[in-house]
Amino acid sequence: MNVKKIGVLTSGGDAPGMNATIHAVVKSAIAKGIEIVGIYRGYSGLIKGDIRPLVASDVTDIIQRGGTILYSARCPEMKTSDGVKKAKEVCEVNNIDGLVVIGGDGSFCGASILSDAGVPCIGLPGTIDNDISCTDYTIGYDTAINTAVQMIDRLCDTTASHDRCSVVEVMGRHAGYIALNAGISCSASYIIIPEHPFNKQDLFDRIKHAMNRGKNHFIVMVAEGIGNVTELAKEIEQVTGVESRATILGHVQRGGSPTVRDRVVAARLGYHAVNLLAKGIGNRVVGLNKDVVVDFDIKDALNMTKKFPEDLYHMASELSQ
Ligand code: ADP
Ligand code: F6P
Repeated sequence: MNVKKIGVLTSGGDAPGMNATIHAVVKSAIAKGIEIVGIYRGYSGLIKGDIRPLVASDVTDIIQRGGTILYSARCPEMKTSDGVKKAKEVCEVNNIDGLVVIGGDGSFCGASILSDAGVPCIGLPGTIDNDISCTDYTIGYDTAINTAVQMIDRLCDTTASHDRCSVVEVMGRHAGYIALNAGISCSASYIIIPEHPFNKQDLFDRIKHAMNRGKNHFIVMVAEGIGNVTELAKEIEQVTGVESRATILGHVQRGGSPTVRDRVVAARLGYHAVNLLAKGIGNRVVGLNKDVVVDFDIKDALNMTKKFPEDLYHMASELSQ
């Protein structure tokens, strides 16, 4: 297959480093003499034909910017056969020979279906959650945990000044990577994640035990989706007597300038994606395995499971005593 023109889109929740990925994809395509177009607002833009050519100057100075210059969206229509048909037709009309889809597992489902329909797609993992099974690492995760830790460091200052307990909710839909690693980095007194059953009595006992040996301020790290952190803070106050407050860090974790790690991974994965498409290879997800760039069949990638770092969780639990 003679690949002359490819497209790039960002889909699902945005992540820092998506722009650095777009930069790498555009520059790699140009270096290979392949025309490149940007598709705006994920699959919605694809179905509507919201497509514009990208040249080198369009990606100048975007490496350091958070968000995505292509915007992102969730597009329920892509989950229908009619939506996929329209997306395929738009690719045909625009002579698009392949697509780079930057997003998470949901976006990869769309990429897999579109590949089966005859449009070769390459998925690149862009999400702060680090919850994509086929890769050790997702673009945006490093920036997000560093942002979370910067915020929690500030929170620690005021928590300590008032002899309080702060219950901090961090992002990570169904995934405890941010909570665990931010928790270790902030020396949290307790970490609550979806991968482990939560025992409230154990939390109260730990706080009381620490109080008995003289500790007077606490950070309890909670992954989103576990429950109501405001209620949990009230319960901690009632049971232990330590004045408690809840803080939800929220979408602030999704913004900001990407870290060096996110920029370099974005460059490596983006470059690899274009190399695959240039060879006419589609239906792959690109990731990192022990710092080596790898790629997998999209369906195989979606069926993989990721082993949660139990050793880290147990270490965190011992260090917090
Ligand atoms: P993420 O890619 O971050 O996991 P979502 O799960 O919200 O985010 O998926 C992003 C978009 O991918 C959806 O809005 C939809 O357009 C597309 N998508 C998700 N699941 C499917 C599916 N099963 N089939 C086709 N497209 C899908
Ligand atoms: O998947 C990334 C993520 O930020 C999750 O951590 C979070 O649960 C979700 O997206 C929030 O999505 P929305 O932007 O729709 O609120």
